[in-house]
Amino acid sequence: MPDSRPILFFDSGVGGLSVLAPTQRLLPQAPIVYAADSAGYPYGTRSEAEIAGRVPALLGRLAERYHPRLIVIACNTASTIALPAVRAALDLPVVGTVPAIKPAAELSRTRVIGVLGTEATVRQPYVDDLATRFAADCRVLRHGSAALVALAEARLRGEEAEDDAYRAVLAGLLDQPDGERIDVIVNACTHFPLVADRLEAAAGRPVQFVDGGEGIARRVAHLLDGADWPDVAGEGTAVFTGADPAIALLRPALARLGLTQVKLL
Ligand code: DGL
Repeated sequence: MPDSRPILFFDSGVGGLSVLAPTQRLLPQAPIVYAADSAGYPYGTRSEAEIAGRVPALLGRLAERYHPRLIVIACNTASTIALPAVRAALDLPVVGTVPAIKPAAELSRTRVIGVLGTEATVRQPYVDDLATRFAADCRVLRHGSAALVALAEARLRGEEAEDDAYRAVLAGLLDQPDGERIDVIVNACTHFPLVADRLEAAAGRPVQFVDGGEGIARRVAHLLDGADWPDVAGEGTAVFTGADPAIALLRPALARLGLTQVKLL
């Protein structure tokens, strides 16, 4: 009998779709539940205590409801703050999302890299640790932007913003001392790859943007190597934790990734 347990992706909003997409390319048959904590969104302006209190409990409820074979915390903010607590609480594999500082340091020629995340993520000791371990000879500039999270959510609802909105976000990094030397920017929030083309255009000079999506997809495929999948492609579920009129506007973007069922938790 094929194993019908899904892979459960979790984020505050639609950002995790940037991790789901590369995972689906590697595992097209995998049943998917995509959970967005719309009642808790946005995470990036919350305190560590709020996120640490909320995420493990919510993932516990989701695990009970959907019996996933594996959970992907497709959110840098939740992962950098709550990943150990989630792993301790749940008896199943949990893959987290952490800022792609290592690949950025490998690519940078100028040895000045930018980390663009949420305000909560960029202040995490976890980010200091990654910078020390993998980018010790680089200057690592950081900027937290709630505005960019909102721009990505709006884009998936079909609302495109002007270039100026993206330029204003990037100025937070590029206008810092040494910012003009940045040649690689880490999209350290899963929402940001959803607007990577807009960021590239707004940068006005060659800057490479990197994120962890492909690496996470490979990790998930490796952990589930040899799994037996049912034939349910295109029947994925998106589950939201709170009712919001914006959810209806997200349906086309969700359906493009096979998330045709939309539910409230
Ligand atoms: N997508 C999330 C992240 O990767 C958080 C966005 C938010 O809710 O502020 O950090």
